Amino acid sequence: GSLLYFPDSTVDYLILFIGCIFNSTFHQPSYIRPISCESFAGPGPGLSFVLPDDAVPAGNWVQACSQVIQLPVHKYGEINVTHPGWANSGYASVLRQEFQLGWNESGKPPACIQCEGSNSKGRCGHSRTGDFIGCLCPDGRVHSDDNCDK
Ligand SMILES: *[C@@H]1O[C@H](CO)[C@@H](O)[C@H](O)[C@H]1NC(C)=O
Ligand SMILES: *[C@@H]1O[C@H](CO)[C@@H](O)[C@H](O)[C@H]1NC(C)=O
Ligand SMILES: *[C@@H]1O[C@H](CO)[C@@H](O)[C@H](O)[C@H]1NC(C)=O
Repeated sequence: GSLLYFPDSTVDYLILFIGCIFNSTFHQPSYIRPISCESFAGPGPGLSFVLPDDAVPAGNWVQACSQVIQLPVHKYGEINVTHPGWANSGYASVLRQEFQLGWNESGKPPACIQCEGSNSKGRCGHSRTGDFIGCLCPDGRVHSDDNCDK
């Protein structure tokens, strides 16, 4: 129910696995390397990895790692996760890229349409979930009404 979305054609997803502990049934996949940046994981135990969502080896990562975080990033080309450069700094350069956020006009509540209409000339203030909170009006005030003219 959010007005904001990640346009599929412009983002890919990286998965951050933090503090992963492997054992005899879930081995550390040999071809992927842990990241060296400890500030992600903190002083806790385990290894941390950053992988493209379509390159995650099978296994119960959710149980093995203390945190699993999905991150939208600017769409990237081929990534060679076995290359040492990926875990060193490759992932960081992907994270630093800006990415696009979509604004779904058709999900706008009626009060927002009214607020931003030609009579009112306001800007809609809305909650995280897209609900109308107030109309930000040209006179610098916030009207709880949906129209700056009223
Ligand atoms: C190994 O780790 C996995 C994932 O955390 C867990 O599901 C499984 O029970 C563990 N197996 C053993 C033998 O500890
Ligand atoms: C990926 O990197 C590894 C390690 O440097 C290399 O051996 C392999 O040829 C690379 N794969 C591709 C498809 O470039
Ligand atoms: C935009 O919002 C409409 C109405 O809420 C919804 O049906 C549609 O799926 C949304 N489009 C995107 C790209 O999120």
